[in-house]
Order: sequence, then structure tokens, then C-alpha cells
Amino acid sequence: MKSFGYLLTALALGGSLPLSAQGVNELVIQTNKPGAAIPSTLYGHFFEDINFGADGGLYAELIKNRSFEFAQPLMGWEAFGHITVKDDGPFERCPHYVRMEYPGHDEKRTGLENGGFFGIGLKKDATYRFSVWARGEGQKIRVQLIDKYTHGSSQVIATQDVKLDQADWKKYEVTFTSPVTIEKAHLRIFLKSKGTVDLEHISLFPTDTWKGRENGLRKDLVQALVDTKPGIFRFPGGCIVEGTDLATRYNWKNSVGPVENRPTNENRWHYTFEHHFFPDYFQSYGMGFFELFQLAEDMGAEPLPIVNCGLSCQYQNHDEKAHVPVDQLDGYIQDALDLIEFANGEVTTTWGKLRADMGHPEPFHLKYIGVGNEQWGPEYPARLEQFVTAIRKAHPGVKIVGSSGPNSEGKDFDYLWPEMKRLKVDLVDEHFYRPETWFLQSGNRYDNYDRKGPKVFAGEYACHGKGKGWNHFEAALLEAAFLTGVERNADVVEMATYAPLLAHVDGWQWRPDLIWFDNLRSVRSCSWYVQSLYGHNKGTRVLPLTMDKKAVAGNEGQNGLFASAVWDEPSQSYIVKVVNTSAEAQPLVLTFQGLKKNVTLAEGTVTTFHSDNLDAENTLDAPFSIVPQEAAIQAEGGVLTTEIGEKTFAIYKFVKK
Ligand code: AHR
Repeated sequence: MKSFGYLLTALALGGSLPLSAQGVNELVIQTNKPGAAIPSTLYGHFFEDINFGADGGLYAELIKNRSFEFAQPLMGWEAFGHITVKDDGPFERCPHYVRMEYPGHDEKRTGLENGGFFGIGLKKDATYRFSVWARGEGQKIRVQLIDKYTHGSSQVIATQDVKLDQADWKKYEVTFTSPVTIEKAHLRIFLKSKGTVDLEHISLFPTDTWKGRENGLRKDLVQALVDTKPGIFRFPGGCIVEGTDLATRYNWKNSVGPVENRPTNENRWHYTFEHHFFPDYFQSYGMGFFELFQLAEDMGAEPLPIVNCGLSCQYQNHDEKAHVPVDQLDGYIQDALDLIEFANGEVTTTWGKLRADMGHPEPFHLKYIGVGNEQWGPEYPARLEQFVTAIRKAHPGVKIVGSSGPNSEGKDFDYLWPEMKRLKVDLVDEHFYRPETWFLQSGNRYDNYDRKGPKVFAGEYACHGKGKGWNHFEAALLEAAFLTGVERNADVVEMATYAPLLAHVDGWQWRPDLIWFDNLRSVRSCSWYVQSLYGHNKGTRVLPLTMDKKAVAGNEGQNGLFASAVWDEPSQSYIVKVVNTSAEAQPLVLTFQGLKKNVTLAEGTVTTFHSDNLDAENTLDAPFSIVPQEAAIQAEGGVLTTEIGEKTFAIYKFVKK
């Protein structure tokens, strides 16, 4: 750290005073007056299958359209020879399969090739499990991993033959070890005998998934989620909860049970760009509600599923007929009640039994449920009310999350908040994708919120820079500034999640995003580091804080400074977060008041997050360009005199001794 001495030197030399000299920036932290308890759920993740975040992303399946259930059954595949698509397969909700027939000459071939999601990523020496449901007694298929591009013409990376030994459907498996690392391999399967073979649910997974699960998740991406220490995990969206229309809403019941029999659903996000190849974005539901609950559990986060409230996406449907009539909501309400049973019910109940059959007899301990995504207008409370009544009756302990619409303020927001109070929901979901100026001006957003009403779930937020990069450092810095206000108001804000979470560099529809990836690599954005710094330094109680004897204003900061302070019981430490949004370094004095006589605060640490270039961002090629740095600091008599650099997020931590 630079020293505070420069200010004294400047004064001694009669130099002009920096802005900071308008106040000494003395932060007084009241250690003996702990305020609100900080909810364990305060920081977490919002997950949606957007930007190929699920299939092609977090879900480790490498084959696109593995069950031939896309609207065009051979989408994602190239077929050659005698291939026909049939629809009387062994899985009733995924009826399609392909028939391969001998092409009539040994030198000719019948087969299929799959290009994965923007290619199939393979890592040298890693193993991959190929599996297929097939029938064709005495027949043989050859399975190859192909490098189509590196050498000008296709090269075989690895080959395995599979002998089929029964006339009826059976699952076959072989494993490959890849001798190379390649980002965009293909899978090729062809008939090596003279008869007929039927193939269904053709799958390829790395064996090294998160926790080694067969129907598993991509390890590096889960690790990036876990590493922020999330306390809440919202799924499955976002707009896909609503669907393009009701027929394509996310139906959680289709996402559970054996993976082979989970019906494919169109992804609402494949309509985003006219110039994108269309229609090729579907949800296999391979990572369905069971896997999402399991992921929440793995992360130590509370699960927060969102269910459809009988409204299709209001951006895309302007006719009342596109929605479920208010007197016909029973099936949707039952879906919500059944979901709670799936998560929490005894194994003797219908849905609790399914959870147990899927390998999790213990409940998932669901405590929250969201009804509706980003709804607005009177049509929303008219529907939500019925859900609230039914859920309260059947599950009085489950907290209900309602929506305040798509905007952080304005007509819909002003209408819905009172409605949410009237309906007595427990939390209200607020969404704000806003520019830098908004974040700069919103550090005190929650200071005057009603303490007696529903709590806040800042469910989707991100700083959207104007005319700059997308995941650039300054956006993350302003998110950090905004979060000081969330933390100071932890009595009213119960949870906050950045959105969206994941994006494939070759297939995004929305940016910025928290984590970017290609088929082999992933990168944690500057915003990820901010989330992570908050997650790891959340604390357990808010501590009162003043700056130059005034309440921390938050709005545009004081001298551009934003701050919050917490006590963390498990680590017995005081943690102060300061964000300097100004373009000048600022002197800082942190005074820890009210310490008991036998308590000393001496050695501590400061973690700083800064980039000289505000427009810079972490990339796949340079993932660690902008990362936090830790250094030792020394307080004297409960006072730390220091300086915070310009455009810097700093976390000062002292363990009580
Ligand atoms: O996060 C992207 C989208 O933004 C979500 O799906 C939706 O809820 C919001 O409009």
C-alpha cells in the first residue's frame, strides 16, 4: 500500500489539495453496536439456460440433439448413406431415433456425425464415456472422434467398435482417452456390418465431471460457482420460466426422471438474433430440477426455484389469450405444490419418492419458491394471489418470492411493490440492468425501504456500460460500490444475484455475463471477482458506520467513496469494504470504536481490486489480468491510517485478538 504521507507532504509544500481533503475520510466503525444479522443468502447465483449456459455449458453432455428431438430431428447431425428417422422408440416422451441400414456395398458407408455445441472439446489424456441405446443383434458400429479442421482434412483422433448383442433396445458404453487437446472435434458413428441398427440417445460425457457424476456437470464451471461461496441459487431463469409461449414454458416435471425420457423443450433464447442459425437452441433438460437442487446443495446454497405463474413471456405475448385464464390455474398451482413435495416430501409421497428413486432420499430442504419471473400489470397479482393462498395453506413455512417487474423503478415497479405488500409475499424480486451512472447513484437505494414490508431479492442485476467493454473493470467497480448499500441494508435485502451467470463465447445472446467459457476454458470476469470478494467477506452482523461524522450516503459516494462494515463471527473479524469510485487516491482513516480494553486490532490484511485501465477485462486468453491482491496492514490503537488508490475496491480485515 502507498502511504498516507503524500497528503502531509502536499500540505507542507503548499500544493493544492486533492478532492479528498474536503474531508479526511474518517470511517468510524461501531464495533460494540452490531446491527442486523446478515442473511446467509445475501450473495448467490442466478442461473438460466441463456447463452448456452446449460446444454453446451454447465451440463457436460458433448452431443447436441442426442435424442433427435429437436424440431428438425437431424439438426446437429450430418447423416450419410441410408439413415431414416423413426418415432416409435423406447422412450415415450422422446420417441425419435435413427435407423442405419447397410448401403448395399462394403465400400460405401451409412453413418452420422455430430458437431457438438460449437465443436466438441477434448483434453489430452482425459477420458470420455460414449453411450448409446441400440438394437441390432450381431451388428457392429464404429465410433470415432474426428479432428476435421486442424490438418486440412479429417483425421481420426480415436476409434472404438461396439458390438450389438441383442435384438431389443439395450444401452452400450465405451470409453475413449483422447491423445490430443482439441476445441472443436466431431463424433462420427457408422455401420460396420451388413444389417440394420437403430440408435437412440447418443451421448458423450467427460468422465471427469463435477463429483464424477455420470449425468454430470462441467467441473471448471461448477468450481467457478462454488468459489464465490454463494448462499442462494436461483433457477431455472429468467425468461425461460415463461417460455416464448405457454407451450414452451419451463415445465419442471419434464426435467426429472430418467434423462432418456425427459422431453426436449425449445429454448426461448434462440429467437434473440435474426442472424443466428435457427432453430437450434433447445433444452434437453439433462440438467433438470434434480441436478439443479443437487448443485445448490453441493454449493451450500439455498435452492430458489421459480415456477411459471400462468403467464407466458409478456415481452413476446400481448394478447390475453396467450396466458392461462385466472380461473384455470389449478394445474399450474399444483405444479408448484408438487415441486415443494419433490424437494421436501417424504419418500412415501409421489414426488418425494421420485426424488428418492433419482438417488436423493434426503429432502433438499427447499425454503423459498418464486412465482413468476419478470411479470407486470394487474394480470400478475391476479394470478399470484391464488398461488400465495395455496402455498401458504399447504406449506406455511416456505417463503414466497414475487416480482416487481422488469425495471428498477417506474410505472410497473410502483404498481407492483404495493401489490406485493398487499399479497404479503415474503420477498420481492427486483431487476436492474443499468448503466454506470445508475449504479453510481444507487448506493443508497435501500436506505429508506420499508422495514416492515417484504424483503428484497435483487434477483437480476449487472452494470451495463455505455460505449465501453461489457465485462470491463469499471462496471465491476460500480457493482462493488452498489453492493456496499446492499450490505448496509442487510436487514431489508435478503438476497442479491448478478445476471446472467454463464455465456459461451460462440453462442451468447446477452452480455455482460459473470463467467465466459469456450469448449475447453473458462474465465471469471471482473464482476465475478466482486461477487466472490463479497461472498467471502459477507460477515454475520452489519456494523454501524459513519464517514466524516455523517451517515454513509452511498449516493455518488462521499468524495466518491462507498463503504460498509461487518462483524464476522466465525473468523472473529471486523471487515470493512471501501470502494473509491473517484479518479484520485483518497486518504482513509478507519477508526474501530467501542473495542473492549482487552481487545487489540493490529495486524490485518487489505485486499484490493483495481485496474489502471477501466475498460480492461479478463479474457479466455488472459484470464488473470485483473485479480485481487492481498497485502498486510497495521493498525494502531484500533485506528488504521491508510490510503485507497483511485478506482479501487478495498477490503480491510482485522481478526480480533
Ligand atoms: O438475464 C437475462 C434476462 O433478463 C432474464 O431472462 C430476464 O428475467 C431478464 O429480462
